[in-house]
Amino acid sequence: MNYKTPVLRFPQDIATAVGLITQGECIAVKTETVYGLAADATNEHAIENVFKAKGRPANNPLIVHIASVDDISHWARDIPDIAYQLADAFWPGPLSILLKKKRWVSDKVTGGHDTIVLRVPSSENFITLIRAANTGLAAPSANKYKFISPTCAEHVLRSLDGRIAAVVDGGQSDVGIESTIIDVTAPVPTIVRPGPIDDLMIEQALARPVKYADSLGVTVPGSAKQHYQPNTPVYLLSTEALSQMLLHNDEGVISYTALSESIKGECRNIIQLARDPAQYSAHFYASLYQLDKQNLRCIYLEETPYDKAWLAINNRIGRVVAK
Ligand code: TXA
Ligand code: MG
Repeated sequence: MNYKTPVLRFPQDIATAVGLITQGECIAVKTETVYGLAADATNEHAIENVFKAKGRPANNPLIVHIASVDDISHWARDIPDIAYQLADAFWPGPLSILLKKKRWVSDKVTGGHDTIVLRVPSSENFITLIRAANTGLAAPSANKYKFISPTCAEHVLRSLDGRIAAVVDGGQSDVGIESTIIDVTAPVPTIVRPGPIDDLMIEQALARPVKYADSLGVTVPGSAKQHYQPNTPVYLLSTEALSQMLLHNDEGVISYTALSESIKGECRNIIQLARDPAQYSAHFYASLYQLDKQNLRCIYLEETPYDKAWLAINNRIGRVVAK
């Protein structure tokens, strides 16, 4: 495949990547959750480039990625102790913390809100870039607005080739879904986007209760219901409904249970993911990308258990199939 966007590799291309960030370009880099589209969070022109490349509305704010907990106070004010407890317990890692922002932080990053979301990612490539660029990096997932979040460089290029200055190929993101976001400005710490770190893990770290927000994943007003969507239509089917199908070869399936031969028929596009939620997450977006590439008539997605362990996945699935 001939791409317009250059593919870089670390460590040999670190200087090139830093040069692009310094010039106000945005480049895709692996984080442990999904690939992020990184830009200098202190450069408004760079932030505009991120919104332009993604086609994302300017009022939907970006997470700022920092190198260490010591940088929290550079970006945020009125920081409660629990923010530091959470950082101690989960950073570097897939937890993003919503705080009050310092006044100097550009409204372009925070979508005009008085808050900022901060995270120290654990992916070596991303941390290396933050340190070498010596600034916070704003980074949404590196996909066109509403499209599937990418977990490898090829996914990024599927929707952003020719729209971004580079992608740093660091292999696969192993967590596979976006970070948990927790609002610590509320009287009770509130998970606003469920993710790899759940309420029980957080309650254990804080030794106090936390709650889930009512409309999970919609962290700012007006945020679209549809998200993480491939071009191919996706239909949600119960295990039971799936067991009564006779599949055709222009259809695809993502299941977590084994399908019998009588259901599979001539269909070759069946991806069976793990029954374990963490392993399922690791391959969920990749399986959507894989099936979407094949120009199928539709993709059937088997409903996963309505069990708390599947909360983050069910939240993503709800938005994949939202009309
Ligand atoms: O795992 C992740 O979090 C990935 C990697 C790249 O770090 N990033 C990611 O970014 O998922 P994005 O932009 O796709 O999702 C960030 C979410 C959005 O729903 C956005 O509205 C919310 O965080 N958000 C960011 N800043 C916010 C703020 N100040 N107030 C409320 N919500 C905010
Ligand atoms: Mg996203």
